[in-house]
Amino acid sequence: MTRRRTAILISGRGSNMVSLLEAASRAEFPARVVAVISNRPDAPGLARATAAGIHAEALDHKRFAGRAAFEEALDARLRAHDVDLICLAGFMRLLTAPFVEAWRDRMLNIHPSLLPAYPGLDTHKRALADGVRVAGCTVHFVRAKMDVGPIVAQAAVPVLQGDDEDALAARVLKAEHALYPHVLRLVASGAATVEGEQVRFARSFAAPAILFNPPL
Ligand code: GRF
Repeated sequence: MTRRRTAILISGRGSNMVSLLEAASRAEFPARVVAVISNRPDAPGLARATAAGIHAEALDHKRFAGRAAFEEALDARLRAHDVDLICLAGFMRLLTAPFVEAWRDRMLNIHPSLLPAYPGLDTHKRALADGVRVAGCTVHFVRAKMDVGPIVAQAAVPVLQGDDEDALAARVLKAEHALYPHVLRLVASGAATVEGEQVRFARSFAAPAILFNPPL
C-alpha cells in the first residue's frame, strides 16, 4: 500500500488537524501527513503539528499582493511536498476557481453543518435560531462555490433543549473529530471516489440506526 501524501491546511486551533494526525500516525492508515500549512502565522495549530513531529509552515496571505499570488505560492508549496491529497481543516480563506480546479477531487473540507443546510459562518447559531432537532457535520470534496461539492460523509448529533451555541458546537466538534479521519481513510484507500458530482463507494455499509430526537 502506498500511503497518499496528504497536506492539512489550517487557520486556527487545529483540533480537526490533530484528529487527522492521530489517525495518520498509524502505519496501516492509507494516508500520511507530509505538511501542515497555515495562512495565519499565529495559528495555534502550527505548534501542535510541530509537537506531533509533522512539518508545519506558515504562508501568510497578507504578505501577497492578492488571492492569485497567494494561491500560486500555496500551490508551489504543496507541489514541493509532492502532495496527493489536501484536507482543509478550519482553513478560513476562500480559494478561487483556478486553485480549486488544479486540485479537483483531491481536496476535502469539513464543515460544521449538515450541508446543504447552513453553508457559511455561524452555523450553530443559525441552526439554534431555526429550532432544528438534528445538527451535524459534513466532509465534502471542494468546489469553487463555498461549502459546495460532492459529499463523502456526514455525522448527525441531536440538538438538546437548553443548548447554547457553545454546547452545540462542542457536540458537533466531537463528531467532526471522528468523521474526518474516517473520510480520509475512505478517500485515501480508494474506497470512496468521485463520479461527476456524486461520491461512490467501493463497498456497501451496514445501515446505521435512525437518530430520533426527541427519542421514541
Ligand atoms: C471546525 O468546526 C470546522 O468544521 C470548521 O472550522 C472549525 C475548525 O476547528 N471548518 P479546528 O481548527 O479544527 O479546531
